[in-house]
Amino acid sequence: MTKHLKHYTTTIILTIILLTALCSCSRKSANYIIGVSQCSEDSWRTKLQDELQMATFFNEGVELRFASANDDNKQQEQQINSLVKTGIDLLIVSPNQVDALSGAIDRAFEKGIPVILYDRKTDSSKFTAFMGADNYLIGQLLGNYVAGQLNGQGNIIEIAGLQSSSPAIERQKGFHEAIALHPGMHIIAQRNGDWKQPSGEKAMHAILDSMKTTGGVPQIDCIFGGNDRMAVGAKTVYDSFASVNGRQNKPLVVGVDALPNAGAGIEQVRDGILTASALYPTHGDELMQLALNILNGKQYAKETMMQSSIVTIDNAKVLLLQHEEVKRQGEYLRKMHQRVDTILTELGTERVFMIFILIVTTIICALLVLSVRATRAKHALNKRLEKEKENLEHEKETVERQRDELEEQRDKLIEVTMHTKGDTTETGSDALDGNEQTFRVENEFMQKFQQCVEKHLNDPDLSVEDLGSDMCLSRVQLYRKVKAMTGKSPVEIIRETRLLRAHQLLADSSLTISEIAYRVGFSSPSYFTKCYRDFFGKAPTEVHRSSTVRQA
Ligand code: FRU
Repeated sequence: MTKHLKHYTTTIILTIILLTALCSCSRKSANYIIGVSQCSEDSWRTKLQDELQMATFFNEGVELRFASANDDNKQQEQQINSLVKTGIDLLIVSPNQVDALSGAIDRAFEKGIPVILYDRKTDSSKFTAFMGADNYLIGQLLGNYVAGQLNGQGNIIEIAGLQSSSPAIERQKGFHEAIALHPGMHIIAQRNGDWKQPSGEKAMHAILDSMKTTGGVPQIDCIFGGNDRMAVGAKTVYDSFASVNGRQNKPLVVGVDALPNAGAGIEQVRDGILTASALYPTHGDELMQLALNILNGKQYAKETMMQSSIVTIDNAKVLLLQHEEVKRQGEYLRKMHQRVDTILTELGTERVFMIFILIVTTIICALLVLSVRATRAKHALNKRLEKEKENLEHEKETVERQRDELEEQRDKLIEVTMHTKGDTTETGSDALDGNEQTFRVENEFMQKFQQCVEKHLNDPDLSVEDLGSDMCLSRVQLYRKVKAMTGKSPVEIIRETRLLRAHQLLADSSLTISEIAYRVGFSSPSYFTKCYRDFFGKAPTEVHRSSTVRQA
């Protein structure tokens, strides 16, 4: 039994551990952590981050960790070091300047972390892949556009991007080379900004001031900004100079980025603030795919160049409409993702509940099996005990019978001895009187004996000694008297009385056979059945009232 108990307890514990393990497996942890180090914080970078985040909806196992350095090399270096320390699997980095961040990026790369240079480059070759637009081509595109618009004649003021940053260098190079093809076109002033609008304003102020002190401000036909923000900043300053000085001509204003969000590049082109802007795409989804290809050991291109194109008043509206559509689809996707998330959470809760039910059911089943086994074992034990009791009772009766027989033989021996010693016999009439008296006395004695037996009938331990002491006789005296008067031993009379009483009860009462057996002093119902059959020649069930009624 204890062995079984041990076995079942172990099974239950193992089941619980297994189910709990299954339960805890239900929440997936991230397979890949991707660190994204941004040199700056603005709408273009926010757009990229949104696209990357959206791409994780389709790549569940990816966790993104963002850091923005606010155009500060030192800060970006620290942020890259911290990202590496948190245990990222891949680093995407837009390095603020070409020569300032190679140290931090090289260290990450040497630690075995794949590095994707995105949008901007460094002077190191320690990177896994590059993805960005071709800034040289963008510069060239704008140079050609401006030359075309001005028929190869005109003065240009250039506000280039952050010095030593790769897009600024490349855009400038492309633009200059395109303009150089037109001898009638001149870049009459050039300054660097820091990509932000105020830096464009500041640069234009400085240019105009310097022109004023060196022979005056010539006609300006084009303002070329390294990005839209700086171009707009420079234009604002020039416009107020022009209105104060009564200048009529409106220079072309061109920049880079053409962001579709409210108040940004494309809207500025639509509203005539900018003449044109070159698209500087972000493609966050493509960037995520590149990262996953690297992480999953799949094929990838070392250099991915994104296409650009010029936005002018002719296509700005269409592009804005398209962007609205994309935005709507994006919102829809976001909502779908939220819905899927809610459903997954609900499913998770249901799963935990089902596992709980499963555990409880397993425990109940195990306990049921245990209790069925225990009941069976109890039944088997009861049966064995019953059999043993029956045997004991039978042995007890046999011993008592043997003792009676021995005593009977001893009495016969005494009688024979007395006869040989010449015992005197009574005369005829005396003997007759004596016989009558003896009969009366014997009758009284037997009645009393019978009463005593009836009184103790339901006591299974009733012995001849008990009856003797009730009748103030020794066991031997009682035995002799009863035997002499009835020819039967007291034990036989007790059993007969029990069986006759049982016979009566079987015929009239609604008690069960076992109850009747106990009631008449048998401690084992099966032994009662045996004795009954020996005495009456049939089984108690044949006489039992309720059994016969049921049979009928
Ligand atoms: C955004 C930005 C853009 C520009 C790009 C160059 O941070 O300044 O305006 O085109 O970076 O890397």
